[in-house]
Amino acid sequence: MTEAPPVVPGRVAVIMDGNGRWARERGKPRVEGHRVGAESVRVVTRTCARWGVEVLTLYAFSLENFRRPKKEVDFLMKLLARFLVKERREIMDNGIRFRVIGRREMLPPRVRGLIARLEEMSAANEGMKLVLALAYGGRAEIADAARAIAERAAKGEIEPGEVDESLLEDHLYDPDVREVDLLIRTAGEMRVSNFLLWQISYAEFHVSPVCWPEFREEKLKAAFLDFAGRKRKFGGLLPEEEGK
Ligand code: IPE
Ligand code: IPE
Ligand code: MG
Repeated sequence: MTEAPPVVPGRVAVIMDGNGRWARERGKPRVEGHRVGAESVRVVTRTCARWGVEVLTLYAFSLENFRRPKKEVDFLMKLLARFLVKERREIMDNGIRFRVIGRREMLPPRVRGLIARLEEMSAANEGMKLVLALAYGGRAEIADAARAIAERAAKGEIEPGEVDESLLEDHLYDPDVREVDLLIRTAGEMRVSNFLLWQISYAEFHVSPVCWPEFREEKLKAAFLDFAGRKRKFGGLLPEEEGK
């Protein structure tokens, strides 16, 4: 078991990319990459919980991923259903709170049922929060929040003048994900792909060249060590820069 790094970010988000490339490099079908990738989800979740991460948000399926061939989408949904059953025990044993963000009405009914069940079962847990982004898009999330606010304003529940950043955050899919400290992307791509657009405004980025199926404890630790070396300024100055 890898020892915990000295600094552990509170809110971590991961763009789990490269399952297809991992499989192709080994002459295997893409779905094999997704299968091994699901194992990385289990390892990374357990490790983050053990090291004391507060909120872990994993990008598992984007709205745009519905553009993939039906066969691949169906496989991913089946894999997800299996995960939601298989990981129940692990989630409960580790006191993890499970939540899904995204347009869940676009997911198959069986998957929706399993999600609701696990969310309910784990709601009172007090350990790490695990958030799975499914049928998720960052722009859609902001649009959905704007619509919810407009509906409340139309009912007279809020005045337009009350709309500020904090009110908008209250209408995001999960207000616990309002801020990200460390955003990890695997498989080397330097882009955000419509993930948590609002929440990553001051996140530190770590792009790993390793594909997701190979991203395990040691790679996670390397990401956290990278984070520990960053000087976060939030637009201000560091204490040692002041008065210079
Ligand atoms: C990430 O791996 C998993 C999902 C997006 C569901 P990809 O399937 O995108 O893998 P690459 O990018 O083709 O290698
Ligand atoms: C982002 O990966 C979505 C997930 C990891 C779920 P993609 O593979 O879909 O992103 P692009 O298409 O390379 O931008
Ligand atoms: Mg990809």
